[in-house]
Amino acid sequence: MRLDKYISSCGSLSRSEVKKLIKQGLVTVNGAVCKKAEEHVDGDSVIEVSGEKLIYREFVYIMLNKPQGYVSAVYDKNYPVVTELIGEEYAHFGVFPVGRLDIDTEGLLILTNDGAFTHEMTSPKKNIYKRYFAVVDRPMDEKDIAEFAAGMEFKDFTAKSARLEITDNPYEVYIEIAEGKFHQVKRMCERTGKTVTYLKRVAVGGVQLDKKLSLGEYRELTEAEMEILGYKTGGDS
Ligand code: URA
Repeated sequence: MRLDKYISSCGSLSRSEVKKLIKQGLVTVNGAVCKKAEEHVDGDSVIEVSGEKLIYREFVYIMLNKPQGYVSAVYDKNYPVVTELIGEEYAHFGVFPVGRLDIDTEGLLILTNDGAFTHEMTSPKKNIYKRYFAVVDRPMDEKDIAEFAAGMEFKDFTAKSARLEITDNPYEVYIEIAEGKFHQVKRMCERTGKTVTYLKRVAVGGVQLDKKLSLGEYRELTEAEMEILGYKTGGDS
């Protein structure tokens, strides 16, 4: 990867800040000053910025506002995949999606290269709540709230008690589920006789989708968000 991209992916410096430092001769690669931002480096290169050795980051955690039309996978033979939305500066991390959203679902999807984190976030035992905004084809009412709260038995799994909040518009609801089974929200709505016509995930385990992210945009999770998720890099939770 290019030197300037590599340095900015390791820390909090922007590409233009990094370029300035490189021009000023403040960056060394394997002990020699390097003034070429496009110099090729990799995880084995020893890079120093202003005399400070760059700490190679093993893991990365990204919040993506997933658009429709993308499969939550790293490869699909028919459709584009969410990892195609992530820039080249993260290519060497080899990120993958944490759980999945349907191809027609939008919203908060976390991508990482940390398998232990993925396990924590997706384990049914951990009860990590996911919050969705849904538009349905028929109005929801109190009876539906009770049906969601009671949990639902499906032939392949039991959905735990889920929270249904009806907005001022009874066709627009928020749904919180503890699991993340295939088509779970759509299936739970179907059980109450409604079809989901639009679905967006707005929060995972208390971390909200950043409203500043347009569809297809992403940023790294902040330390505060990692704390909300109760996860410390290295696997201690
Ligand atoms: N439930 C669904 O039905 N679809 C999703 O994408 C996520 C949860």
